[in-house]
Formats: sequence, C-alpha cells, structure tokens
Amino acid sequence: MVRFGIVGCGHIAKKHVAAIEAVQGAELVAVCDTNEARLAEFAVDGVKGFTHIEDLLQTDVDVVCICTPSGLHPQLTIQAAEAKKHVVVEKPMALTLEDADQMIEACKSNGVKMAVVHPNRFRPAVVELRRRLEAGSFGKIGHANATVRWNRNQAYYDQAAWRGTKAMDGGVLMNQAIHNIDLLLWMMGEVDEVSSYHATRIRKMEAEDTSVSIIRFQSGALGVLEAAVTIYPKNLEESLSIFGETGTAVIGGRTANWIKTWNFSDLSDEEAMETIQKIESDPFGVPGHQCIIQDMTEAIREDRDPIVSGKEGRAALSLVIACQLAAETGKAVKMADLT
Ligand SMILES: NC(=O)c1ccc[n+]([C@@H]2O[C@H](COP(=O)([O-])OP(=O)(O)OC[C@H]3O[C@@H](n4cnc5c(N)ncnc54)[C@H](O)[C@@H]3O)[C@@H](O)[C@H]2O)c1
Repeated sequence: MVRFGIVGCGHIAKKHVAAIEAVQGAELVAVCDTNEARLAEFAVDGVKGFTHIEDLLQTDVDVVCICTPSGLHPQLTIQAAEAKKHVVVEKPMALTLEDADQMIEACKSNGVKMAVVHPNRFRPAVVELRRRLEAGSFGKIGHANATVRWNRNQAYYDQAAWRGTKAMDGGVLMNQAIHNIDLLLWMMGEVDEVSSYHATRIRKMEAEDTSVSIIRFQSGALGVLEAAVTIYPKNLEESLSIFGETGTAVIGGRTANWIKTWNFSDLSDEEAMETIQKIESDPFGVPGHQCIIQDMTEAIREDRDPIVSGKEGRAALSLVIACQLAAETGKAVKMADLT
C-alpha cells in the first residue's frame, strides 16, 4: 500500500480523501490542519490527526498531499521533501518562480517525486484534443483561445483571509485560470512573448479579478487568454479552442468538458460525431484528483515521474507570472527574460 497524508483539511482536501479512497493500493493514514475543528472532521476511522506538519512527517506516510492556502505550498512541500516524503501539491504549486525552483530542487535532491494537481488533463474531451494534436490533425496551427468566464462571488473572497490576496491567492490567473493555462500550454507548447491587461473591477480584493492577454507561442502561433471571476450570476464558460490549417476544435461548457466543434480533414463526419457522442455520454470521466493520486501511486511503483510533474506545474506558473509582469509594466514580456 502507498500511504498518504493530507496537510490542510479544507474544501479541496475532501477531493483528495475521496480520490485516495477510490484508488486501489492507496490509503489515507494521517491528516494535518492547524485548525482543530477542521482536523476533527478528517481525523476519523483510524486516520491520525496532527496540528503540525512536523508531527505528520514523523509517521510512516509515503506521500503528502499539500492542500493549504497556495502561498504556503513552497514551505510545506520543502519540509515534506526533506523528510523524504513524495509530494502531491495543489495548484498553483507556488506563487513565485524562485519558490517553484526551490520545491523542484528539494524533491530532486531528496529523491522524492512531485505531482502538481492539474486534474483537467484527464478530462475525456481534453484527452481527445491532445490525441488529435499528437496525430498532427490540425496541420499548421494559426491560433488558440483559452477562456475562463467564472463567478467567485464576494462571499467566496470574504470566507477566508487568504483569498484574493496577492501573496496567498494570486488572483484570477493564478487561482482559477491556471487550470486552463496548463491545458493551453500542454496543447500549444512553449510561449515566446505575452502582453496583458489586469483589472480589479468588481470584487473587493487585492489581486486582479479580470485579465486579458495576447500570447505569441514559440511555434509562431498566436493565443488569446481571457479570464474573469466576475461573470454574473454564475460560472458561464471554460473553453479551449485551437484553429489549424486542417482542423478546428472547440472544447467548452462551464468546465471545458464538452466538444462544441470538432472538424478535421482526416476525420469523416461519422468519426467526428462518434467522438462527440462518446464525450457526451461521459463528459467528466474518472475524477481528475483520482487520476492524479492513481498516477502518483503508479509512479512510485514504477519509479518514474508523475504525468503532471513539478516541471509542468512550473510552466503554467511561469505564464501567469509573465502575464502579471506584463500587466504591471505595460510592456510585452519575453518568457526567456523571466528568471
Ligand atoms: N485543483 C483544484 O481543482 C482546486 C480547487 C480548489 C482549490 N484548490 C487549491 O487548494 C488549496 C486549498 O484551497 P481550499 O479551497 O481547500 O482552501 P481552504 O481555506 O478551504 O482550506 C485550507 C486549509 O488549510 C489549513 N491550513 C492553513 N495553514 C496550514 C498549515 N500551516 N498547516 C496545516 N494546515 C493549514 C486551513 O486551516 C484550512 O483548513 C489552494 O492552493 C487552492 O488553490 C485546488
């Protein structure tokens, strides 16, 4: 059995508990939260509870899932790595590249694995899109578009002091759109340059609630990234579109789960319809958190890197930071100039 511990018993930790329960060969043995009431909810059925990560790290856990506010991910990941525990860290893995690099280095030098929780990679529609790309079905790609039109109301930002802050939450790109940014990069490859505008238009929060960016990828293809948490009255859309010489794909719905358009020169109408219907019959597939826990369990057994490694998490973080810098300075930012 691979023994898991969870640090941070809040909203997302519930998905980790369900995921660990669902994966064969994985078991939850310990949890940690500085808030004793939260801890009591999770430290049940023989699962040991601790208020300090140091105590959890002294147990025989193999993997630690870091589910605390984002700004605490670096310190807690490094502590876990130094205790020779593998790490599953929630997104965003860190809020600065310096921290991300230190986390990656700590895991490497201590011989442990790190997975970053970007669960959307495992969604059925996204997997199909990646397959089309790998098959070369788009031909030369002209441009791509990533859109996150969501609602996080004021109560969401007021429920915990860390939400909406620059230091701990990071804003709409860092906290919400980073999922779609990860997908955009997975499909389109590395970015050359980005220009951005950020605004805090409607929510009372320190970080931005609205962001618009224009991207040039290293391939020469262009991209548009639009993200907001201010959409009235509820989540409207998370979508990813890719437009190529011989293919057009639009994945949409509220959480990028549905195929809206699927036109490829190497697919007949019947084949395209077959894929669309397959996705409609199972738009969510196996929960993404379960896929991440399953993958970490197998990565340990097979001694390989997890699919969404620290390097992948860092790539998404880099683009967010480049957008932030471009918005702050009013100048286009070259990814090569980021340290
Ligand atoms: N992958 C996803 O789909 C997804 C979705 C939502 C949130 N998240 C991420 O999960 C993380 C947590 O978000 P949440 O919504 O669960 O937050 P939350 O505020 O509900 O929970 C955070 C918990 O961490 C605890 N905590 C704080 N400091 C701690 C410490 N030093 N040691 C132990 N526990 C500590 C808090 O008491 C709280 O119970 C964030 O990084 C967020 O970006 C990921």
